[in-house]
Amino acid sequence: MYNVLLIGNGAREHALAWKLSQSKLLNQLYITPGNPGTALCGTNLNIPANDFDAIKKVIWEKDIDIVVVGPEDPLVNGITDSIQSDKVLKDVIVIGPNKAGAMLEGSKAFAKSFMQKYNIPTARYQSFTHTQFKEALEFLKSLQPPYVIKADGLAAGKGVVIVPTLEEAKTNIEEMFSGKFGEASQKIVIEEFLQGIEVSYFVLCNEEQFVLLPDAKDYKRIGENDTGLNTGGMGTVSPALTISTPEFTERVLNKVIIPTLEGLKAEGISYCGFIFFGLMNVNNHPYVIEYNCRLGDPETESIMLRIESDLIELFVKTAKKELTPDAIQISNDCAATVIIASKGYPEKFDKGFEIIVEQDKIQSHLFYAGTAIKDGRLVNNGGRVMAVSSLGKTLQEALDISYQSIQHIHFENMYYRRDIGQDILKRLNTV
Ligand code: AMP
Ligand code: GLY
Repeated sequence: MYNVLLIGNGAREHALAWKLSQSKLLNQLYITPGNPGTALCGTNLNIPANDFDAIKKVIWEKDIDIVVVGPEDPLVNGITDSIQSDKVLKDVIVIGPNKAGAMLEGSKAFAKSFMQKYNIPTARYQSFTHTQFKEALEFLKSLQPPYVIKADGLAAGKGVVIVPTLEEAKTNIEEMFSGKFGEASQKIVIEEFLQGIEVSYFVLCNEEQFVLLPDAKDYKRIGENDTGLNTGGMGTVSPALTISTPEFTERVLNKVIIPTLEGLKAEGISYCGFIFFGLMNVNNHPYVIEYNCRLGDPETESIMLRIESDLIELFVKTAKKELTPDAIQISNDCAATVIIASKGYPEKFDKGFEIIVEQDKIQSHLFYAGTAIKDGRLVNNGGRVMAVSSLGKTLQEALDISYQSIQHIHFENMYYRRDIGQDILKRLNTV
């Protein structure tokens, strides 16, 4: 039996906590800092994800066997190295790469040069430091619009701009170099625009082995029909029917996943955890848009519903290098997640409205994100408030269950997209 500490506080972590809490191998589950949803699955601890000393102390005090790191920040800051270099904690299993592995997400310039070195398909690019403004402009001129400009480091999902004119591209580069995203944008990547459909693939891996997790499609824009500002994600479906075809998946395995794992090994990077491949499907060929060193949010809320295997068993097999491809069972059912958000997100919004959930009328899983308990009541406390996730025999059924459940969740200024999965349903009906 295992004691598990899960780090993070989003709906992704609530979905992980829910799945972990069903494991026959679980003794105690702790989540830090957690949220009111994770508190329904285990015990929340009030330690910030980046306070490594306090986290190490609690690992020791609570006799934790497995640490699962949800978000990228602590990974990029070296939480795994910090735990594993501690003599007392060296046998603790950490699901999440060390600092070197987390560079796949922590530096876009690193990720791009890694892909180039190992022949992994990605958009043509060059990277520039703030002393190379002129060179950056020259390279821009060699590309066709629209122009894709990325801050090198972590910028809370906001470090990418796609603009139609050279003039706007220039202004954005100036802003980045003058510190719009602090350190993160002192270096930038400029790359070719790829026309296609985005899809998310995931593996759980160690240096030698991996299992492929369910794939998903994320709906990133705030507005229906993919309009308006980018968000953390307004919904997901899994699988990404019509996009993640068997032929495409075969190419993802052979051209992206296996070369990435071989590349990590060749670089001497020992990686134990999740890799999220943000891909563009261009005429059925995969191109890597980005790597993440963690699971996606809100993809996790859909894919956890489709994983039938025991999650702790999978984690232990990963750490002990006993991970065979058949270690994972995945349901053929479809999952759909619709995010309910605070109106105004991803810009300004009001917090503190009471959330009423008619629990007996809800057939979905509700995974909490930006929520808090105030005077004994559940209130909205962030932009993305809850993930409403359902499993169905068909995508239509999964979506219907989520949208019916939403009719029984109420708070002032509640917003959600009504068109999650509609593009896929349309394509399914025309093939
Ligand atoms: P990233 O943070 O790298 O995932 O970029 C954010 C979003 O920008 C992606 O999810 C894509 O929608 C878009 N994007 C990034 N790079 C490209 C590209 N080379 N071509 C087209 N769209 C892109
Ligand atoms: N859903 C996109 C992400 O987690 O980065």
